[in-house]
Amino acid sequence: MPTPVILDVDTGYDDAVAILMAAGHPQLELLGVTTVAGNAPLAVTTDNSLRTLDAAGYTNIPVIAGAHRPLLRELGGSSDAQSQHFRFPKAREATPGYAVDWLVDTLMASDGEIVLVPLAPLTNIALALYKEPRIVEKVRKVVLMGGALHRGNMTPNAEFNIWIDPEAARIVWQAGWPIVMVGLDVTGRALIPPDDVARVKGLTSKRARMTGELLDFCVQREVVGWGKPGVQIFDACAVAAVVDPGMLTTTHCFVDVETTGTLTAGMTVCDVDGLTGHPPNCHVGLDIDYARFFRVMLDGLGG
Ligand code: RIB
Ligand code: CA
Repeated sequence: MPTPVILDVDTGYDDAVAILMAAGHPQLELLGVTTVAGNAPLAVTTDNSLRTLDAAGYTNIPVIAGAHRPLLRELGGSSDAQSQHFRFPKAREATPGYAVDWLVDTLMASDGEIVLVPLAPLTNIALALYKEPRIVEKVRKVVLMGGALHRGNMTPNAEFNIWIDPEAARIVWQAGWPIVMVGLDVTGRALIPPDDVARVKGLTSKRARMTGELLDFCVQREVVGWGKPGVQIFDACAVAAVVDPGMLTTTHCFVDVETTGTLTAGMTVCDVDGLTGHPPNCHVGLDIDYARFFRVMLDGLGG
């Protein structure tokens, strides 16, 4: 039985690859895509998500727009590499309604098997928790791309998705549901080298051809892991970890989010040594088996 998943995205290039993998992987059933402001304004992330699904032939998978800004903060800037306007053809507009309402309605009507995969600032997820706290019992687990144990990518210690909306992230980590954190410590170790980019481009599916274009875009903009060769497709790692959780090396510990620090707002504070005395609330990714990750990517893209 395929695992039902919902992706919450701020579609830029790596969200798009994650969407294409999730839509096409035989072990996943992509129930819907909710969008949020992050990499770009909400209208752009929603339009990019529609173009990604429609161009690949998935006009049946709903796209529902959510929060247009973080809970409290202004929407921070992102890199031009992430805030691109896709030119893939679109066949429809977003499903009417609000992503937070759709998330709550879909989860509350479910049998509790849905895996929630946030790949963006956590504003929609926090708002859904405030609207209906009982969704915690209806989500099998949360596998999110975000955070960092060691180094940030927006500040020395904050990763973009958390940095954009630290207050929302704190609410998500305090909710009490199972969380797997696929942070920069993982995504920076899953760089796709040129030979494997070529292998993706050698596939014949529309999903693979679109992914090839997205990877080429990254190569042109040198979206790499801290100067190492290879393309970093952050969000794809979280989707892959839903299919094959064992590809991750994790530590189970207490995680909280800094929301007031001048220098540290958005930092995921991971208590790996149990110094706070708080019980663990998160499986924090430390490493990833690249071969298993890339296998899932190829299977999702029609390899
Ligand atoms: O830090 C990487 C994350 O920020 C990814 O989800 C990327 O899409 C951007 O949202
Ligand atoms: Ca994203």
